Amino acid sequence: MNVSRFGQKIASTSGIGRLMEDLGNAMSQSSNTLMLGGGNPAHIPEVQKYFRDSIEKLLRDGSAFEKAIGNYDPPSGNIEFIEAVAKLLQKEYGWNIKSKNIALTNGSQIAFFILFNIFAGTYKDKTEKKILFPLTPEYIGYCDVGMTDDFFIAQKPVIEHEDEQIFKYHIDFENLKIDKSIGAVCVSRPTNPSGNVLTDHEIDRLSRLASANNIPLIIDNAYGLPFPNIIFTEIKSIWNENIILCLSLSKLGLPSARTGIILANEEIIDMVSKVNAVMSLAPGGMGPVITTDLIKTGQIISLSRNIIRPFYHNKAKISLELAIRELNGIKFHIHKPQGTFFLWLWFPELPITDTRLYENLKQKNVLVVPGNYFFPGLKENWPHKNQCIRVNYSQDSAIFRKGIKIIAEEVKIAYNV
Ligand SMILES: Cc1ncc(COP(=O)(O)O)c(C=O)c1O
Repeated sequence: MNVSRFGQKIASTSGIGRLMEDLGNAMSQSSNTLMLGGGNPAHIPEVQKYFRDSIEKLLRDGSAFEKAIGNYDPPSGNIEFIEAVAKLLQKEYGWNIKSKNIALTNGSQIAFFILFNIFAGTYKDKTEKKILFPLTPEYIGYCDVGMTDDFFIAQKPVIEHEDEQIFKYHIDFENLKIDKSIGAVCVSRPTNPSGNVLTDHEIDRLSRLASANNIPLIIDNAYGLPFPNIIFTEIKSIWNENIILCLSLSKLGLPSARTGIILANEEIIDMVSKVNAVMSLAPGGMGPVITTDLIKTGQIISLSRNIIRPFYHNKAKISLELAIRELNGIKFHIHKPQGTFFLWLWFPELPITDTRLYENLKQKNVLVVPGNYFFPGLKENWPHKNQCIRVNYSQDSAIFRKGIKIIAEEVKIAYNV
């Protein structure tokens, strides 16, 4: 069909599109697919109980339900929820946050679409600017959100080997260049896909670099503090007028509520609200309605700290042990799991590509995500890009156990051992 450049770009087959299709098919069919792909969070019974109770309370509470479903919120999102988030963050971190520093979006995925296209692309003076990822691998969902070509630029990491099996990525500050061609810097922390958590030192240094260049630092905090707190190391949270912090209710256990939360200076929030009005009139209100009390009472912090974090931390430990045991006998490395719910497996001498491995595994009913999708903006031909896969360990442990066994068998076949 003859469509515009916008139509061509946004509606062509993207990495995220194919991934969501595979994920959707596997989750909706009663198939025997072992689902280690996708980014679905676990269904944690204690957490789901809070959401069920919250909806039951809403139904019993006079006309609260009718109000919740029957009214549009303002373009920046549900006022009561935003006030509660601002107060929570003031109390928890002492940040000088007001309601005007917060806007909601229909999931944080669209927040990146909005923010990236505000800060990169063609400027009024006709200069072109890009989003810089100072460390790749980085989140697959960023890959296709740019509305102009050549939208991203990215950098290879420094790799630190902790021992023969465990490694960690660091930002290569020695080679990091920020100049007038960069419109904003972005990192996910914890990082999807690697489970990396950038150190406080790295974040401070990035924040100072961004400020010195008068561009924002976007921190994608979808798995971070204070909720859902899927972080297994001790870190400090930072925010200032030059940082755009993006949170989400998805990994807390509410992906279908599609609620993203952007924290930024008032000027940026005002722009995001205006984009919301154009694109969707207003963000949906059900996520805020279900969680406002949790946020007002601060229970969201204890729920995250005492239930969600230990749940995933335990899974991370078990999954790592299982993976190391199954992969014994072949050359592999695993990124230190410091957060998220993914293991990032690196097979440095893999004789086939990550895509071939993905296809072979799909034939055996195991879904993973091939690693090459996680290098947005990295043009360099780096073999590492085709030597990794991402596996999700958030689902039932039995599924992970069976899946990792098949992955190990398949890699052994490829290695011919
Ligand atoms: C790092 C990261 N950022 C953002 C998102 C988008 O999440 P949502 O749109 O559900 O808030 C995801 C989802 O998997 C993610 O992994």
